[in-house]
Amino acid sequence: MRMKKFSRLSKWLGWTRENNPIRITIGLATLPPSLLQAISECLKKAELSVLANASTDLSNRYRNRTASKFMISEAHRLVYLATRLPATYAVNYAVLKNLISLNIPFQSLLDLGAGPGTVMWAAAGLWPTLNKISLIEADPGLIQLGTYLSQTSEFSSLQVASWHQADLSTLQTLIPHDIVSLSYVLSELDQLLQTHLLKLAWQATQRALIIIEPGTPTGFNHIRKVRTWLIQNGATIYAPCPHNLGCPIQRQDWCHFSVRLPRSKVHRQLKSATLGYEDEKYSYLIACKAPGHQGDTRIIRKPVTAKNQVILDLCTPLETQKINIGRKDKAIYLKARKVKWGEVWGDFSSS
Ligand SMILES: C[S@@+](CC[C@H](N)C(=O)[O-])C[C@H]1O[C@@H](n2cnc3c(N)ncnc32)[C@H](O)[C@@H]1O
Repeated sequence: MRMKKFSRLSKWLGWTRENNPIRITIGLATLPPSLLQAISECLKKAELSVLANASTDLSNRYRNRTASKFMISEAHRLVYLATRLPATYAVNYAVLKNLISLNIPFQSLLDLGAGPGTVMWAAAGLWPTLNKISLIEADPGLIQLGTYLSQTSEFSSLQVASWHQADLSTLQTLIPHDIVSLSYVLSELDQLLQTHLLKLAWQATQRALIIIEPGTPTGFNHIRKVRTWLIQNGATIYAPCPHNLGCPIQRQDWCHFSVRLPRSKVHRQLKSATLGYEDEKYSYLIACKAPGHQGDTRIIRKPVTAKNQVILDLCTPLETQKINIGRKDKAIYLKARKVKWGEVWGDFSSS
C-alpha cells in the first residue's frame, strides 16, 4: 500500500531513477499526499503552454514589482500551486515545527494573506488539536482554489476553515487566535500598511506570531524591522534569535535558512529546471506573548565539516559566534557532525 502511494507520488513528481531526489539527498519536505493529488487535479484544467507563459509573466511581475497585485489570472494562481506552494509549504512546516518544543496544544490559527491556505496545511499536520482556522485573503480566485484543496484534507479543521475575502488594508481589528501568521505577505505591502498590519496581528496574537519572508537581503530587512517593533511592544522572540537584544547580524549581511524540497515534473517544465529538487531560502521570526518563551542558541549558517573538525556559526544569547569543534570532545564532535543549519544547538554551554 505504502509502495503504491509512493509510486503514484513519484509519477506525479515526474521522478525517474535518474532524477529522483531521494537518491540524491534525504529529508526532503514533501506535501501531504491529499494536497499533491488535489493540486494535480487543478492543473489538469490548464494547457501546459498557457501555464508556461503565465509562469514567466508571474516571475516578471514579482521580480519587477511594478504591480501591487501579483496573481491576476487563473493561470497565475495555478502556476502558484505548481511552483510556489510546495516551497512555501516546506518553509511554513520548517518554521512552525520550532513551536513543537513549547508543548502547547494550539487550538486556533489566523492566517493573513493566506493565498491558497498554505500555512494551515502545515499547521494541521503539526497540531491535530487545532479546531478553529480563519484565513483572510484578498483574491477570490485563490479563496476558491484554497477551499477546493482544503475539502480534500483528512483534517476536519481544514474542511471547516473560515475563509474571509478582505483587503488587509481595510481591517481595523482582528479576532484573537493562538497563532497568527503572515507568510510571504509583508513584502507585498507598502511600509505604512506593514506597520498597521503588524500592530493588528500582534493585538490578535494570543500565543505566537509567525512572520515569514524570502531569504533575501530585502526579506530579512522586513524581518529586522518587524523584530525591533515587536520587542518595543513587549514580545519575547522565540526563534530564530535566542534573545531580545539588538540583532547582531551586520548591516550588509542577512539571517536566513534553507529547506530542500522535491520539484514536480510540471514545476521543472514550467521553470525549465533540470534538478529534481530545489533549495528554498527564507527568513523568519516567531514572537511569543509569554515572557518565559525565549529561544535557544541556534546554528545560523550551513555547518562546515572538514576532516577533523566542524565549524558552526551560532547566534547565542550574548552574540554571534563561530566555534571550531575538534575530535577531542567526542560526544560534542559527533553531535556537531549531525546538526543542520537552522537547528538549535542546545549543548552550547558545555562546548
Ligand atoms: C506570496 S502569496 C503568499 C500566500 C501564502 N501565505 C503562502 O505562504 O503560500 C501573498 C498573498 O497575500 C495576499 N495579499 C497581498 N496583499 C493583500 C492585501 N492587501 N489584502 C489581502 N491579501 C493580500 C495575496 O493575494 C497573496 O495571496
